Amino acid sequence: MRKMGLAIAPLALLAAFVPGAVAAREDPATTVEIEVGQPGAKIDRHIFGQFAEHLGTGIYGGVWVGPDSPIPNVRGIRSDVVAALKAIRVPDVRWPGGCFADEYHWRNGVGPHRRSTVNANWGGAIEPDTFGTDEYMDFLHQIGAEAYVSVNVGSGTLEEAADWMAYMTADQRSSAGADRAANGHGEPYAVKYVGLGNESWGCGGNMRPQYYTDLLKRYARFTRNYNPAQQGDNNPNAMQRIAVGPTDDDTSYTEGVMEAWSKRDWSWSIEGLSLHSYTVPHWPPSLPSVGFGEDDYASILEATLKMDQRIARHAAIMDKYDPDRKVALVVDEWGVWLAENPGSPKGFLQQQNSMRDAIVAALNFNIFARHADRVRMANIAQMVNVLQSLILTDGPKMLLTPTYYVHQMYVPFQDATFVPVTFDAGEYRHGQIKLPRIDAVAVKATDGKLYLSLVNLDPVAGASVKVTLPDGRFGKAAGQVLTAPNVNSVNTFERPNTVTPRPIAGKVAGGVMTIDLPAKSVAMVALER
Ligand code: AHR
Repeated sequence: MRKMGLAIAPLALLAAFVPGAVAAREDPATTVEIEVGQPGAKIDRHIFGQFAEHLGTGIYGGVWVGPDSPIPNVRGIRSDVVAALKAIRVPDVRWPGGCFADEYHWRNGVGPHRRSTVNANWGGAIEPDTFGTDEYMDFLHQIGAEAYVSVNVGSGTLEEAADWMAYMTADQRSSAGADRAANGHGEPYAVKYVGLGNESWGCGGNMRPQYYTDLLKRYARFTRNYNPAQQGDNNPNAMQRIAVGPTDDDTSYTEGVMEAWSKRDWSWSIEGLSLHSYTVPHWPPSLPSVGFGEDDYASILEATLKMDQRIARHAAIMDKYDPDRKVALVVDEWGVWLAENPGSPKGFLQQQNSMRDAIVAALNFNIFARHADRVRMANIAQMVNVLQSLILTDGPKMLLTPTYYVHQMYVPFQDATFVPVTFDAGEYRHGQIKLPRIDAVAVKATDGKLYLSLVNLDPVAGASVKVTLPDGRFGKAAGQVLTAPNVNSVNTFERPNTVTPRPIAGKVAGGVMTIDLPAKSVAMVALER
């Protein structure tokens, strides 16, 4: 268990929030003990999932440039973005929305004759529908990810959703499968995850939980997957159905959907319940993504750490109806939501991404890892050019954000086993805001190594961490650390390498590993013999 007590308080907060300021105080070392003998839950690699909505330049420009573009591409999908995503082993991509999904009519986006529509949710942009189902599946194939398709429960029909599933998964003896084959894809696609609506309590139709659960039962039954490779209840490739669930602290959908699920019969079920929870201290989002000071820094971190209690609250309700934890809590929209970049098209949700946002990502991954027995999937909003993006593009230019690098550093967490750690978090204080100074999570990875994630939230002071190593088995400690001149440092097209990881090593002696963390940093350290 993590100790969050304040037994070790900082001596004084003497240093002002000065760009690049040097530590003005000496804090005692944080001691971390790793309980290797008590492994916890598996950390599902799907907590590193992505979300790509037809919103702004999230798809058009960010992923899809078209086969005739001078930007290097394979069948219209930009190659630089594909290479970057392959490198972080993206497990799945949720698509086509978001609010967009509940106004998406999939037939507009298949075959030789595409029908353009108006993207009413996002700036009234014209949606050309040139990136549709077959292009999405091609994109997944290129990056090596699984499909997470959200069907239209808001403005579509059940017949339309069922027909879409048949188009994607049925063989060519059915007309839908034959249509797909005529569009160049003879073999059925695998659809690993299906989202049954999006935010049905809001943009997806503003439904009461009771009304939604009645619809859910029908969608869960009739959006069938016909792919022969996905049949059978115990098939690890069987499709998982994800119901709309709560937003933030509102538990009405958690109660409504889980109570209905607990009374289910043979005719329907779900395997996941969605939670949407953004880091945004006040709605509407108004904090800038660049040039901010310590007030914003501390309040964003305070807001993001609420994810822990939020998950615990919904998980407790789920435990009441599902003590065996069969239904996953799927945090399929999370991330920092800030003011749109000045001068960017309204409704495109374009924001920069800073060192602060990298810390937000790491803290959330650590929270998901601690709840790995219930949180088995999460999707950051969003993958490219929208909200807390991993990648930004501008015409032919592309850059990797600090949040991208956190994803890269956490690759060893994918399908690793959680290992409990005990530590005193200490305190980072700004005004009335009191936060833990250090965060730590350990895992046993699939490569057999022990990995330790360490986050120093203090924007000014470095931190020394002493890790008591289990039964002296380890002799080497090395990894990567992400830090920056300031918490508001960003990568730009002109200076794309301001915030990039660099090597870090710990000293191992007498069964103790000592490592010095820079201020405002995320470190991932592998412990080896
Ligand atoms: O990610 C942007 C939007 O936020 C999504 O479309 C919606 O589901 C949520 O409100």
